[in-house]
Amino acid sequence: MYRSHTCGELRITDVNKEVILAGWVQTIRNLGGLSFIDLRDRYGITQIAFNIESNPALCEKARTCGREFVIQIHGKVCERSSKNLSRPTGDIEIIASQLSILNASKVPPFTIEDESDGGEDIRMKYRYLDIRRNPVKVKIMFRHQVALHTRKYLSSLDFLEIETPYLIKSTPEGARDFVVPSRMNQGQWYALPQSPQTFKQILMVGGMDKYFQIVRCFRDEDLRADRQPEFTQIDCEMAFVNQEDILNTFEGLIKYLFNEILHIDLDAFPRITYDEAMENYGNDKPDLRFDMKFVDLEGLRGKGFQVIDSAEYIRGFVVKEIETKFTNKEINELTEWVKRPQIGAKGLMYIKFTNEGIKSSISKFYSEEDLTTIGSSIDAKTGDVVLILTGSKNSVLKQLSELRLEVARRNNLIPENVFKPLWVIDFPLHEWNEEDQRFFAMHHPFTSPLPDDLHKMKSSDRSTIESIRAAAYDLVLNGTELGGGSIRIHDRELQARNFELLGFTKEEAEHQFGFILGAFEYGAPPHGGIAFGLDRVCSVMQGSTTIRDYIAFPKNNMGRDTMIDAPSSIDEKQLKELGII
Ligand code: AMO
Repeated sequence: MYRSHTCGELRITDVNKEVILAGWVQTIRNLGGLSFIDLRDRYGITQIAFNIESNPALCEKARTCGREFVIQIHGKVCERSSKNLSRPTGDIEIIASQLSILNASKVPPFTIEDESDGGEDIRMKYRYLDIRRNPVKVKIMFRHQVALHTRKYLSSLDFLEIETPYLIKSTPEGARDFVVPSRMNQGQWYALPQSPQTFKQILMVGGMDKYFQIVRCFRDEDLRADRQPEFTQIDCEMAFVNQEDILNTFEGLIKYLFNEILHIDLDAFPRITYDEAMENYGNDKPDLRFDMKFVDLEGLRGKGFQVIDSAEYIRGFVVKEIETKFTNKEINELTEWVKRPQIGAKGLMYIKFTNEGIKSSISKFYSEEDLTTIGSSIDAKTGDVVLILTGSKNSVLKQLSELRLEVARRNNLIPENVFKPLWVIDFPLHEWNEEDQRFFAMHHPFTSPLPDDLHKMKSSDRSTIESIRAAAYDLVLNGTELGGGSIRIHDRELQARNFELLGFTKEEAEHQFGFILGAFEYGAPPHGGIAFGLDRVCSVMQGSTTIRDYIAFPKNNMGRDTMIDAPSSIDEKQLKELGII
């Protein structure tokens, strides 16, 4: 037996037990006649004591151990004279009677402690040491809980977990594919799935009815804090359902996870349409933890101020009770911030409602009365500040959305430990791309139009096509898109028409999607589904800003795994075998 207990297990009630523990040496302290080792494993830390008088040889041996040595000790549980209240095992220590050094360790390149002295790069290179640290370990354990409870919830509703292949033909999810050469079919390539989309739909045709899979997906796209080139989806599909069934089932999943794991009861998720999200927050994943909805400031027109009068769109938002904090310096900084090329605004206008009256960057063109009228139309009170941007509709919405987040961040307006989920529904089916002069599917090409907009699918008029709404939905939580899905097209003709609208010729559609179009000819049931980003669910549940912490072996910003040094070149023989050279 290597161990009778773990290093996190023993308590005062275990005093006098003879035990065997094994783990890593966290620290070793020599205090005159006594030596102490803090022994660590996944479960916790237990103090081991060695007494030089009663067992000098053993104490000497203990003193040869360095940090991260793997050791096994036999000993007796005793009550500690000076207790460590910050540790669950802090009431006891083990008086060692035997010590075996199971493996030595080099001195680690950074400290294996909650606050490590190692930078990100070195910790990634030695990820196995980083994983021994508490903050990393608990996140990986948290992920296990999320996956476990997801399986419990979905299994209880009769979902089946079914695996789909990784070596497939490209699926059109909008990112680039990672591709794999085929040795046996030279000159031909597999693609790694961006998602199991087509397979899960085909499982519905296969009668599987309720499918899920916790599955790795691969997308060759630029990385951000919430994006990795390989990430994990909770991928789901159901047959004989409508949008309402799906929203209820998966709202249930998220509520279940919060309840079981965090013991938090979430209220019913509000639903807003894509158009409302864009008009009110300038993006389709609004953070509802704070207010600052956009307000209509068209009332400013007609007073001779050229910037306003010539603008296509005038919007702003009210920052409540902030006036005393919004000094000129602050406003100047924000103005510079919105003028950066990443945001691209020409300038920032403001109206402050102060105790001494109205102060505004546009007061030259407006009387106090004009501004008071505007203020009351948007419910601005004394102490509030209105920030205003003008320009084309699209750019104002985008810039104001960034500004809203920045103002909230700078002024600590985002409460912690608050969860504000919502469904965004009624996305447009297609999006026009000026550069390519064609439509792209906003979700993916298998998404069904809303029944009310079905008739528009026959149109060839661009603005009619642009106005088709999809039976597509996203689940957004605290400004992060956790998941998205849609009701699918299950009719072969409608699917063929959608490919046509997306600019595929009949032959191209047949070549790329013949298998799914073919499956639709053999009794495809009405179906729909959703996929959540598991990494994102974990990070948002714990209020973390990066998904990397929840992935045992993540890639860095350049898509590299610095521990195994991948990607790397391969030798000529391999390339020849694959028919690449
Ligand atoms: P979608 O492309 O919206 O839908 O992806 C679903 C969810 O997957 C997560 N996600 C990512 N997480 C980390 N890194 C990435 N690079 C990344 N890309 C996506 C997000 C996102 O909401 N097949 C459809 C789903 C369906 O229609 O059922 C799909 O993949 O949390």
